[in-house]
Formats: sequence, C-alpha cells, structure tokens
Amino acid sequence: MRRPQLEPVPGLPNRVRIYEVGARDGLQNEQQVVPVEDKAMFVRMLAETGLETIEVTSFVSPQWVPQLADASELLAILGEEGLGRHRPVLVPNERGLDRALEAGVSAIAIFGSATETFARKNLNRSVAESVQMFAPVVYRAKEQDAWVRAYLSMCFGDPWEGNVPIPQVVDAARRLMDLGCDELSIGDTIGVATTGHTKRLLEALVEAGIGIDRLAVHFHDTYGQALANTIAALQSGVTIVDSSAGGLGGCPYAKSATGNLATEDLLWALDGLGVETGVDLKKLVATSVWMAGQLGRQSPSRVVTALGESV
Ligand code: HMG
Ligand code: MG
Repeated sequence: MRRPQLEPVPGLPNRVRIYEVGARDGLQNEQQVVPVEDKAMFVRMLAETGLETIEVTSFVSPQWVPQLADASELLAILGEEGLGRHRPVLVPNERGLDRALEAGVSAIAIFGSATETFARKNLNRSVAESVQMFAPVVYRAKEQDAWVRAYLSMCFGDPWEGNVPIPQVVDAARRLMDLGCDELSIGDTIGVATTGHTKRLLEALVEAGIGIDRLAVHFHDTYGQALANTIAALQSGVTIVDSSAGGLGGCPYAKSATGNLATEDLLWALDGLGVETGVDLKKLVATSVWMAGQLGRQSPSRVVTALGESV
C-alpha cells in the first residue's frame, strides 16, 4: 500500500492522541440501525489498528437516538475490550450515568452547546438548564473516579443562529470546565470553521484559563476544511484530535452536519509529517472498507477511496 513521503516540519507536536468517534458520532447518524454484533466487530477492529481512545456508544434517550439504544448490550458483548479509561461513552443526564455505571463504564463525555437553539434541539433545554443537568452527572462520575470529557457544540457557527461570537463560546466552555471536567472538545458540529477562526478560538480559551493540554478539536468536514483546521490547531499546541474512521458521522439534531474528519485523512497527513499516532493506516482503511460494506455505501474519505483497492 502506498505511504506518504516522510517530510517533517517544525512547530508541530511529536505525538497526537487520536480520539476515535466513528462508533458513536458515526453510527448515531446512520438511517439504519447497525446490528449490535457489527458494532462490536467495528470497535474490536478499530482497537486492532492501534487506536488507543475509542468512544464506544451513547447512553442517551433511546427515543432520541434509537441507533444507539443497544449501548448496554454492546458493552456486555465487548466485555473488558469496551471498558476502561480509553473507552468513553456519551452521557447527558443522571439516567444515562446510572445506565453507564451499571455497564461498568469509567470514562464519560457530557455534551453541551454554545448556542441556545442547539441546546434546545439536542437536549430539550436552555444552555443554563443543560449545565444544571450535567452538574450532578460530573459530580457523581468524579466521585466514582471516572474520567470526564466535555464536548461543546456549535463553537464555530450554528445553522439557526449563524455566527457564534468567540466570547459566547468561551463562556459556555468555562461553565462546562468549572463542573470539574478533565478535557474539553470544541465541536464544529456543522463543519464551517476556518483556520484563522480555529486559532483565534483556541487562543481565547487558553486566555480564559483552559490549558492547551486539555483541549481537543472536533471538526466535521461539511466545507472540506476539517483537516486544514486540525493542522492549524496542532500548530496552536493542541495534541488531542477527534476523528472518525471512514469519515462517518453527523448529528441527527443539527441540520447540515456531515461526517467528521476521516481518521484515514488525518493519518495520511500526520504520517507524512512524522507525527506519531501509533495507528496503522492499512488496518484502518481495511476496517473502514469493511464498515462501508456493512452500511452498503462508499466511505466519503478521500484516503479510503484512494487506498481501498490495495488493502
Ligand atoms: P427529554 O425528553 O427532555 O428527557 O430529553 P426526559 O428526562 O423528559 O425523558 C424523556 C424519556 O426519555 C423518559 O422516558 C426518560 O426515562 C427517557 P419515558 O418516561 O417517556 O418512557 N430518558 C432516558 N432513557 C435512557 N437513557 C437516558 C435517558 N434520558 C431520558 N439517558 C435528553 C433530554 C437529554 C434525554 C434528550 O434530549 C437526549 O437524549 N438527547 C441526546 C441527543 C443526542 O444524542 N445527540 C447526538 C449527540 S451530540 C453530538 O453528536 C455532537 C458532538 O458530536 C459534538 C459536535 O459535533 O459538536 C458530541
Ligand atoms: Mg460530532
């Protein structure tokens, strides 16, 4: 299989931790419900590629996201492979936390919004009410010594509200981090961010006291900017990047959200730059080709398309 020519440049981290979201952000957005055995196979294959952190599923309301209603069953099938600090799951409320803890989970992610409209659409609450909903979740998770990530959606633009001012994003980010979360992932839910915007927002978050080592970036690729924005974030000192095998992804409650940055596209770029990830590109492409077969459609990833025949 073809590999990129190694040509490192200064100003980038030596190593990046990829936070793989395909099994959650990807499969929550499929029209069809993927059989639970295929989900388990997907997670196992992802782990085989060397991906350390894999978000497995969501403990949200099954009425809201029927695609992931089988979260407990999936974790039971996966056993130890689906648990631990590197197997987070999405949790919106105490009901979700109860279900997750019962399944043996020790890493969770809450998910807030920088805009009022999306908070309403995705969580049925205002921004302030959603922070109130998360507070006992984070408190109780921490009491159980769990690792807690906070996502913040609509950081770069909102389909209903348009532009989102940077101070508004910083304020929402601070409120989530003040609950005691370990990490913050800034979400470009609808894929409208650009490189300058990315750098400006990261600077503002760091100025507000959120250390760059706690910041992750989460770009959807609607406008084809996800990889460029990610490289801009790495130049700003970020070392945690969310991506999705095969470029699966989207949010059922956000108009115009398409797939995430494809993990393969990210790897092609990082392998060429000599930035370590510990992930085997060939195995990952084979995994995405397999999943595309299960879903009955081609992966939108350019790298999967280019390399898919040769794995
Ligand atoms: P609600 O309707 O206000 O909740 O929804 P409720 O408390 O009134 O409960 C309604 C029903 O759901 C009740 O059942 C509850 O028991 C049940 P009933 O009594 O009617 O039979 N319920 C639950 N069942 C199981 N597990 C639970 C749970 N919670 C309630 N955890 C709620 C509020 C937050 C629950 C709902 O809005 C919800 O589940 N939203 C999740 C939406 C979602 O998953 N969106 C996609 C993930 S976010 C995303 O993709 C963005 C991200 O990728 C970053 C980015 O790209 O920006 C992270
Ligand atoms: Mg997302």
